[in-house]
Amino acid sequence: MSNTIKRRSLLKLFPAYIVAPAIIVSTAKVAGCAPAPISNAGKTVILSTWNNQKANNLAAASAQNGKNIIDSIVEGISHVESDIEDMSVGKGGRPDREGDVTLDSCIMDHEGNAGGVCFMKDIEHPIQVARDVMYHTPHVLLAGEGATNFALSRGHTKTNLLTEAGAKALEAWKVESKYKPIPNIEQHDTIGMIGIHDGKVGGGCSTSGLAFKMQGRVGDSPIIGAGLFVDGDAGACTATGMGEIMMKNLSSFLVVEYMRSGDSPTEACRKAVKRVADKIKGSKKDQQMGLIALDKDGNIGGYSVLPGFVYAVTIDGKTDVLEADSYFDKIE
Ligand code: GLY
Repeated sequence: MSNTIKRRSLLKLFPAYIVAPAIIVSTAKVAGCAPAPISNAGKTVILSTWNNQKANNLAAASAQNGKNIIDSIVEGISHVESDIEDMSVGKGGRPDREGDVTLDSCIMDHEGNAGGVCFMKDIEHPIQVARDVMYHTPHVLLAGEGATNFALSRGHTKTNLLTEAGAKALEAWKVESKYKPIPNIEQHDTIGMIGIHDGKVGGGCSTSGLAFKMQGRVGDSPIIGAGLFVDGDAGACTATGMGEIMMKNLSSFLVVEYMRSGDSPTEACRKAVKRVADKIKGSKKDQQMGLIALDKDGNIGGYSVLPGFVYAVTIDGKTDVLEADSYFDKIE
């Protein structure tokens, strides 16, 4: 798949996009008119960053089988964490420049409970550990060795997260040792997943962070308000892209606050992106931020700084992949 998926190619890749008018109207550009609000009230809705259709389907099936939204999201994200083809989440994630795969994750429920782990090594499912931090500790965030030890105490076992492909990629990177984040790399980065089921909103996210990052670097994904924010009275938002941007702007929190003030999910994401994008000077190449949001009535939206950001949407068991509108038309 090319780095920038255009809507035309999406139509080819995901023909269901054509027959999902409710989704199109509530998220995509409609020339010359404002999107009509479509209520998904009462439905189970799952959204995730990038083309994570399988994860969405697992989460939706889990909800259908009686699990709550948090456990359903954990199930969806766990699948991606185990997928060694995914180079930026869980096992198979690209290492830091010392050769360690270090993982960041967080989770939040509709009541404002939250948990996370960061700079965690050797554990395959940071999203499950984040859930344990949320429900089984008085804390919100555990880091490094403390996070790994806590995971072990909760029954997780040590796993080698560095795959052969990851080790080879590091060797290739060392030839130039240039720190150059690439927007939309391989069409995926963090998995952020938000959803509503039985009227309850929840969200989680998980990542191995930027490939070949400095040892100790932590991004937005374990930081409540940056990579994820959930409020049962307003909605949920999660982010992907260059974590430093979301950390400096608390973009997920901002989107939820805009929705609380009455903005639609798409408009809330657009305003949070604009805050960031208006200030970019010079090259935009390493400035991608993609946001997806869901309000408490199940309406959805997304927006990004640069083109090429897609997200998976599942409404009542039917999944589509949409391209978000972006602030800039080109990556330059
Ligand atoms: N968005 C993932 C990271 O920057 O670590």
